[in-house]
Amino acid sequence: MNQPLPTYQTQIPQGFIDLGAGDPPLSLLPLDLLREAAQVSLSQKDNSFLQYGTEQGFGPCRAALAEFLGNGEGFMVRPENLFITNGISGSLNLICDLFTQPGDTIFVEEPTYFLALKIFADHKLNLISIPTDESGLVIDVLEEKLKEDHPKFLYFIPTFQNPTGHTLTQERRDRLVDLSQKHDFLLIADEVYQFLYFTQRPPKSFASYLNAENVIAMGTFSKILAPGLRLGWLHLHAKNIKQFVECGLLDSGGGLNPFASAIVTEVIKSGGFEKNIKTLNEIYSSRVKVMDQALRKYLPQLTYTVPHGGYFFWAQLPEGMPASSLREKAIQFKVDFRPGNKFSSTGGFRDRIRIGFAFYESAEIVEGITRLANCLNSK
Ligand SMILES: Cc1ncc(COP(=O)(O)O)c(C=O)c1O
Repeated sequence: MNQPLPTYQTQIPQGFIDLGAGDPPLSLLPLDLLREAAQVSLSQKDNSFLQYGTEQGFGPCRAALAEFLGNGEGFMVRPENLFITNGISGSLNLICDLFTQPGDTIFVEEPTYFLALKIFADHKLNLISIPTDESGLVIDVLEEKLKEDHPKFLYFIPTFQNPTGHTLTQERRDRLVDLSQKHDFLLIADEVYQFLYFTQRPPKSFASYLNAENVIAMGTFSKILAPGLRLGWLHLHAKNIKQFVECGLLDSGGGLNPFASAIVTEVIKSGGFEKNIKTLNEIYSSRVKVMDQALRKYLPQLTYTVPHGGYFFWAQLPEGMPASSLREKAIQFKVDFRPGNKFSSTGGFRDRIRIGFAFYESAEIVEGITRLANCLNSK
């Protein structure tokens, strides 16, 4: 009999624990919540969400989202400043389409989200990397680089960064916005993990720079509801909306994902969205603790800081141990991780690994770390 064709993307071989995984686990994708919301939207008389959508995005979704974001973040969010997208990956692709030409220079963090690097490669952009430390992007270095180059935009992940887990401080945020205005380039903030915090609330979204015309804050439902929805948003100054809504993609296809938007509108209105985020934060915060304890117990040779949100630990291997050779051995121990150089546009971080705490339950996290320790300690 033929094998059934796959329904979702997984590359984890049977029996492996892939600590590198950056997806939410299937068990935390809220089918009941979405079923109830879909029932509400599908039993209404209004079927307009089955039509080509308005270019800026399904109105009721922008209204519900604006209220949710405004309440959560404590500043005014207007539906007029929201543009519905098909997630951050799609947003980034569209931003590259609209604001860059092949050969243009952009700035990225070092390290950064490896799949964003792929989108930039698709657009043949010239990348200049700016170092980061525990407080995020190093603004003094950025200032120096701006004397030599003028980027079209800076792409950065300000909160619970992927892969480092670090968060850009408020003081650096303010300096960054000042610099971007002085040197006239766009700030493209990837805020995928903004709502996944386990201790205190992180600094406000870049959307809080309400009057900054050059700031685009990208949000997504992928990690706080479900990536299969392919739904996200941009928060941007009214001046920039025109360029998005008038582009060929939307002229031909209409606004992005009105069907998913209608269902998500009901999820938000029911209060289920807020509850879902709370549940995720409780579960993930206990998984962080489990991973931290397991690392301390079985892998005291690794150095790292415990993340306060997001998905990942970014750990330094003992001196002289490249992640690439550890990974070759790891196959025998049925464990995997992401090697640090994947997140570098210059081939750096060869002694770092990214391991995620979101994807597995506690027992598998401990088992995964034990396997990694056995691998690391083997001759
Ligand atoms: C930093 C970062 N940006 C974007 C994405 C992808 O977002 P989306 O599913 O909205 O395309 C991810 C997913 O892991 C991510 O870690």
